[in-house]
Amino acid sequence: MASTSVHGLRDPELFQTKGFIDGMWVDARDRGVVRVTNPATDEELGTVPEMGVEETKQAIEAAAKAFKTWSRTTAKARHDILVKFFSLMKENEDDLARLITLENGKTLAEAKGENVYSASFIEWFAEEAVRAYGEHIPSAMPGVRNVVIKQPVGVVSILTPWNFPSAMITRKLGAALAAGCTAVIKPPPETPFSALALVVLARRAGVPDGVINIVTTQKNVSEVAKEMCENKTVKKVSFTGSTTVAKLLTRMAAGTLKKVSMEAGGNAPFIVFDDADIDAAVEGAILCKFRGSGQTCVCANRIFVHSSVYAEFASRLAEKIATFKLGSGLDEQTKLGPLIHSRAVEKVRQHVDDAVAKGAQVLIGGRPVEGTGSFFAPTILSEVPADALVNDEETFGPVAALIKFETEEEVIKLANDTDVGLAGYFYSRDVGRVWRVAEALEVGMVGTNTGLISQAVIPFGGIKESGLGREGGHGIEEYMNTKFIAFGGL
Ligand code: SIN
Repeated sequence: MASTSVHGLRDPELFQTKGFIDGMWVDARDRGVVRVTNPATDEELGTVPEMGVEETKQAIEAAAKAFKTWSRTTAKARHDILVKFFSLMKENEDDLARLITLENGKTLAEAKGENVYSASFIEWFAEEAVRAYGEHIPSAMPGVRNVVIKQPVGVVSILTPWNFPSAMITRKLGAALAAGCTAVIKPPPETPFSALALVVLARRAGVPDGVINIVTTQKNVSEVAKEMCENKTVKKVSFTGSTTVAKLLTRMAAGTLKKVSMEAGGNAPFIVFDDADIDAAVEGAILCKFRGSGQTCVCANRIFVHSSVYAEFASRLAEKIATFKLGSGLDEQTKLGPLIHSRAVEKVRQHVDDAVAKGAQVLIGGRPVEGTGSFFAPTILSEVPADALVNDEETFGPVAALIKFETEEEVIKLANDTDVGLAGYFYSRDVGRVWRVAEALEVGMVGTNTGLISQAVIPFGGIKESGLGREGGHGIEEYMNTKFIAFGGL
């Protein structure tokens, strides 16, 4: 049912304020609610149900019931529904982007970009559904034929973050639906409305009852997540978020040896070598560091610059950043939106204060913005020392931490000196160095001479404590079991 407040959407039905279980929009049993606010204005956008373990169990049961029929639909039928879903996401891009901006804060231009990215996962997985081939393996035994088939794993639990309210859902849900799985999704309490709008469109595209279920929660998140990971009916858990939570969920899922995909935190190095195209490196750093106001897992966190180009890089970067206008993402002039909430602002402040106390200099910004909303001024820190917090942890904010280096060997050592390894970037025009450094960086994804790597088609994921499994390009495999069948007596 549509809410009375529609936030300027063309299609008010896209703004849903209830959870979704077994094809029905539902409240929490005890009628509790989660309040959702706009991080640019601190105003309440609406509420969603504060659900708990009982509702989660119901959602899992509904998904299990629906799995019996959804898993038997043809790949072509699932393809056709996903193609329709993709078209509906494109047709409704203005409304979907507006919802993303309202609840997450990113600019409308970025939100439209997220919708394109998000829809591209649905398109990609529509095409994957019909190409989920098995194989025939020449037999080592006479009279036997070896065949391998792929089957959907079953009910999938999907837990997503607020930094991409739409794309982190479709990256998982698209793969699950294409494979023939059914899903229980727990969107984050900060950005549930994009998830609910996606359900409306998926239903219009023909997704049947019980195939997608949404459980919204904030206070009960620990119990809900525990049920989603421990319930025996669930066969796979897919999560994007912090390394700490990824470890916790993996431990829970281990009790029943479920398949897991964990896309956890990063601490991306961004290296500018002395032979780099400096203008391109500055553009790349801006794209990579300030996307989503610095709140992505693949954002540059440590920017290493060779001493011979350090001053030039820092001043050109500062020149560009100085022009950034902060404000509501709905305002066309805005270049940088707010952070998600005041706790995020506090963390960024801590990182800046810590670096400054240890000797870093603030070239630009360096403080939260007073007044309404959760804003932090775009910041450049220079001469960041090795013992600064920002070297060890993701800042998840608009802070470019510049660190000087002298040699390739030294910078590789510094770049790899972290427990995580999601993405890494570097700029160099020496083809030998490009190969050497790309191979030496301990990360799952490398951008050479580019600050933007994200696309639906790539194997997205990390190594070390950045997670397990791959999403996107190779993602459908994670939602299927491989079954071997020997045909004997021939
Ligand atoms: C993330 O921040 O977790 C995802 C970033 C991306 O897909 O580009």
